[in-house]
Amino acid sequence: MAPSQSRRDKPIHVLFIGAGAVGCFYASRIHHPEHGIHASLVARSNYAAIEKAGVSMETHSFGNYLFKPASVFPSPDHAAAAAKKDGHGWDYVVVTTKALPDRGDGSALISPVVGPATVIVIIQNGVGVEAPYRTRFPPNPIVSAVTVISAEQTGPGVVRQNRWTRISVGPYTDGRGSGDADVGRAGAAAIEELGRWWGELGGIRDVDPHDEVDLQLVRWHKLCINSAMNPSAVLSGGRGNADMVSDPELREHLRGVMDEIRDAMPRVLGRPFPESLATPERIIKSTERNTGGRPSMLLDWEAGRPMEIEVILGNPVRIARERGVSLPRMQSLYALLKSAQGVRDRERAEAKGKL
Ligand SMILES: NC(=O)c1ccc[n+]([C@@H]2O[C@H](COP(=O)([O-])OP(=O)(O)OC[C@H]3O[C@@H](n4cnc5c(N)ncnc54)[C@H](OP(=O)(O)O)[C@@H]3O)[C@@H](O)[C@H]2O)c1
Repeated sequence: MAPSQSRRDKPIHVLFIGAGAVGCFYASRIHHPEHGIHASLVARSNYAAIEKAGVSMETHSFGNYLFKPASVFPSPDHAAAAAKKDGHGWDYVVVTTKALPDRGDGSALISPVVGPATVIVIIQNGVGVEAPYRTRFPPNPIVSAVTVISAEQTGPGVVRQNRWTRISVGPYTDGRGSGDADVGRAGAAAIEELGRWWGELGGIRDVDPHDEVDLQLVRWHKLCINSAMNPSAVLSGGRGNADMVSDPELREHLRGVMDEIRDAMPRVLGRPFPESLATPERIIKSTERNTGGRPSMLLDWEAGRPMEIEVILGNPVRIARERGVSLPRMQSLYALLKSAQGVRDRERAEAKGKL
């Protein structure tokens, strides 16, 4: 069989939960019906738009195209019923919602579509995102994925990818590489398939495979950017990335958060900070050029949406603490931002109650 074929004797059914920027981009690059790989979407507020017209993709890397998923469903229950009717299971379930464990358990959300052999793929920012899925689905392979992309949904069913495509993937057993070895091997086999489908077939040149602990290092490294820039953009009064690093006090604060994470990584994960990854100094330097860059958390805050506080701040603080490592700067950001969000939500609820 040619390397570009699916290498399975049956069609592959891939279901993305969350048809936003990341979900639509990676679904559109894995959908190859001519090779027997069929990507479907579970959408929410944009369900009607996608059902009617598909997803209009405006991409820097692959030009503009229309992505017509195999199917689009308004909920996982609908996807489960449709698969049952068609006599197939979901081979891959890819979670591409925002990671908001304080608002709901994503593992419960996907349970209708997870069968005994389903591979669960989690493409979300932050750390500790996989744990609820591992607890609920002990025998299922999990692929943990970190993406470096700049993409946004500019209207219902319209997705713009501004730059970058990188997706780093690794198996997940317990986050330390010491969980069930068979489950880990199944995760690694899934990574090979995903690499072929996204890479050889989908044209993504930087699908980056890692072992379990290395992938966690990639996750923690990305925190150097997200945990420093995102909360600080909100707490500093709504300032963009380049603007923040041009302010000497804020620059020192951002560098302090990044250094705290970098120094904690070997103690939390048992491996040194990889030399291949950008140091805090390099991140700060390159941020100087990122004029106009505004972190997603700031956009969420300004739009009154929930922020990914738990996975970007709360989980790292708790995971490090469990391993005897304290992250005082991160803890302060966590306490302040969580409080600010709580106050905002209470005020909005009270205002609504008065109407
Ligand atoms: N965008 C980027 O450039 C980027 C880059 C790197 C990493 N990430 C990470 O990737 C993840 C996804 O981000 P994103 O930018 O793609 O977010 P997004 O554009 O907001 O998309 C999330 C989608 O999930 C949907 N959703 C949420 N809960 C759902 C539910 N219960 N059932 C069905 N659909 C549901 C949302 O629907 P509604 O519209 O109804 O809310 C939305 O369409 C996040 O962890 C983010 O931090 C994003």
